[in-house]
Amino acid sequence: KMMADDEYDYLFKLVLIGDSGVGKSNLLSRFTSNEFNLESKSTIGVEFATKNIVIGKFSYPYPWNVPSSKSSRRYRWPHHQMSGKPEFILATTTLWIWDTSGQERYRAITGASTVGLWYVGGCGTLRQPGSGSTVLDLSWHITRPSSFQNIDHWLKELKDHADENIVMMLVGNKSDLAESSRGVPTNDGGAFAEDNKMLFFETSALDATNVDAAFQTVFSKIY
Ligand code: GTP
Ligand code: MG
Repeated sequence: KMMADDEYDYLFKLVLIGDSGVGKSNLLSRFTSNEFNLESKSTIGVEFATKNIVIGKFSYPYPWNVPSSKSSRRYRWPHHQMSGKPEFILATTTLWIWDTSGQERYRAITGASTVGLWYVGGCGTLRQPGSGSTVLDLSWHITRPSSFQNIDHWLKELKDHADENIVMMLVGNKSDLAESSRGVPTNDGGAFAEDNKMLFFETSALDATNVDAAFQTVFSKIY
């Protein structure tokens, strides 16, 4: 097994982008230290956080990469030649997470970093196919047209500059707020995510709903 370093098996990079005030910093602090701040200050430029997690997966000897149904597995060539058994592997994973400011006046910095980040640390030291992933926040309490316009802006930026293998997740945060204040129906968020090949979660940094699940899902997708 190739290792980037003795201390971890994998290094995953994640960038949080999206409008100011949607809750990126609080999603991150909920995930990294289980903290939430009702009066958090807007992020200035870009902040960096790191966390180690252990993730597990089954490793199948080639070409048993993805086991499908029992019947197709039985008949797929060349299974009779398989010697190894599937193995459950625990991998220590270091996460590098950049939390960017959603404010317009930092666009130049965050835009440049978002694009530049794919090269930080040298992607050559990473062994997984998708070297980075990006979470886009779409806040439900912001009026729908502007949220969607901005998501489009970020998507375009990513498609122009980022590695095509990146894993993207659309996150609708503040699911704890009253249904009546919701600006984007869950179905619309889901459909948008599907159209743009993104994972999709609705979260609440405030009551912690789905925060771990969202991060774990995006990382397991890279893995
Ligand atoms: P910028 O750094 O300016 O881009 O904003 P941000 O996306 O980092 O937003 P931040 O995490 O600072 O949160 C903005 C405000 O929303 C703060 O007052 C938070 O307390 C609040 N907030 C964040 N997440 C939630 C949530 O899940 N539910 C509720 N009700 N409020 C939240
Ligand atoms: Mg912030």
